Amino acid sequence: MKTEISIKPTVFMIFGGTGDLAARKLIPALYNLYLDKFMPSQFAIIGLGRTEYTLESYRKEMLEGVTEFSRSGKPDTKTWKAFAENIRFLNADLEQEKTYQNLSQIIDKCDDEWTEPANVVHYLAVAPRFFPIIAENLAKVKLTQDKCRCRIVIEKPFGHDLESAKALNILLRGIFDESQIYRIDHYLGKETVQNMMAFRFANALFEPVWNRNFIEHVQISVSEKIGVGDRGGYYDHSGALRDMVQNHLLQLVCLVAMESPVSFGADEVRNRRVDVLKAIRPFNAQELNQNIVRGQYNGGWVEGEEVNGYREEKGVNPQSNTETFAALKFFVDNWRWQNVPFYVRTGKRMHQQSSIISIQFKDVPHKIFPDDAAEIWQQNRLIISIQPEMSIRLQVQAKRPGVNMVLNPVDMVFDYQGTYTHDGPEAYETLLLDVLQGDQTLFMRADQVEVAWELLMPVIEFWEKKTSLNFPNYSADSWGPELAEALIAKDGFHWYSLPVSKKPKS
Ligand code: BG6
Repeated sequence: MKTEISIKPTVFMIFGGTGDLAARKLIPALYNLYLDKFMPSQFAIIGLGRTEYTLESYRKEMLEGVTEFSRSGKPDTKTWKAFAENIRFLNADLEQEKTYQNLSQIIDKCDDEWTEPANVVHYLAVAPRFFPIIAENLAKVKLTQDKCRCRIVIEKPFGHDLESAKALNILLRGIFDESQIYRIDHYLGKETVQNMMAFRFANALFEPVWNRNFIEHVQISVSEKIGVGDRGGYYDHSGALRDMVQNHLLQLVCLVAMESPVSFGADEVRNRRVDVLKAIRPFNAQELNQNIVRGQYNGGWVEGEEVNGYREEKGVNPQSNTETFAALKFFVDNWRWQNVPFYVRTGKRMHQQSSIISIQFKDVPHKIFPDDAAEIWQQNRLIISIQPEMSIRLQVQAKRPGVNMVLNPVDMVFDYQGTYTHDGPEAYETLLLDVLQGDQTLFMRADQVEVAWELLMPVIEFWEKKTSLNFPNYSADSWGPELAEALIAKDGFHWYSLPVSKKPKS
């Protein structure tokens, strides 16, 4: 964990300051950074939004957000008051130049009052149609030029497809330098995801076996219990592939498959991540059907409560062709991974909330034990559980105590809860601190975003052109469509899931 650090005075603008993200994630994260003494000694948080708030009512709403969503719970009154004095609200129309002139004045005032000129973070927690409007207006009032002082943070989606992602990158790079652009993928800020790098490159044990000679297959599964909730309007134009695979799942693939970077420098690490995406074998139109599966959830019962099918959700077209589940099989064409299949799947309304990476090793070359010695013969498996359980398990065969030689699989477990006494930071805390410090390692670079889109475009186009005739094809509280089981079963494997933990830690 980082210890206290000194960060330049900062003005942190939240475009979309009255939205969900600000109250649920951004302000709680900034507040926790403040508690942990990671905020600069001089800072201002400016929430911008169209909803009418007074300064008082805005601060109150943010306090409610922190109370409900922060890992540290209800703030202590005195500490909150000291933090909240730095929060301001600007009732603003993002399409008016005047808004940006006001911002410029606020920054000038901070510069005058503070001990040194402020860094400025523009956080775009708004719908993508505002990205160009905001970026261009900021440029007009010269709030973008200073490479060292001004940063822009963009929430996904980074484009809707390859073409729009390229257009967005061109627009942003016409105004900002790449070193000023922070494209957030919150998965990269998760503790367990970050630990992948430590686990792989800070231990001598794993790298020698981390390749095609020892690994049989890799699977990455991100299942959610929740449905689309009140995000149907957005989701119905997105779907699982765009919403989860293009970003979060491919990031996980990169961390599993990347080569060792020369150093922990931002571009060194990002270069190695992009290399993975470039090496993934493009999906071939003839074989697409054998390597991809889509699904859409039906209604059903979850923990005794009746839930809607996707097509009945608010904001969703009743004949929607949008997938809420996607599974893909692909190969990474390089020396390390040649012929090792990678399987990824993600879906909403599935049986369990669980994000896991499972690496299955090849079998022993020769079995010396009689067949009846092995009750359950399980090849070695490494399971990295990202959430809700945060753990790394190595499954090995062991002899069960007793007079007979009976083998069964056991887990060697590194479990965060049992190992560490303090809670780790939330993903947004880690990422916002990196923005404040100017560290881009955990952010996506333009080329990475584009390669990810390029890879998925054949699948997106295939699914968009061909209406699925069997939607909805999996019931709520299941593991997705049967075809997804077949996708992996035909290679002799099955999707791995952790036993449901009784006390999930979120
Ligand atoms: C978001 C997606 O990026 O990630 C959501 O838009 C999804 O649809 C969420 O629910 C999952 O994130 P987490 O951290 O809950 O796994």
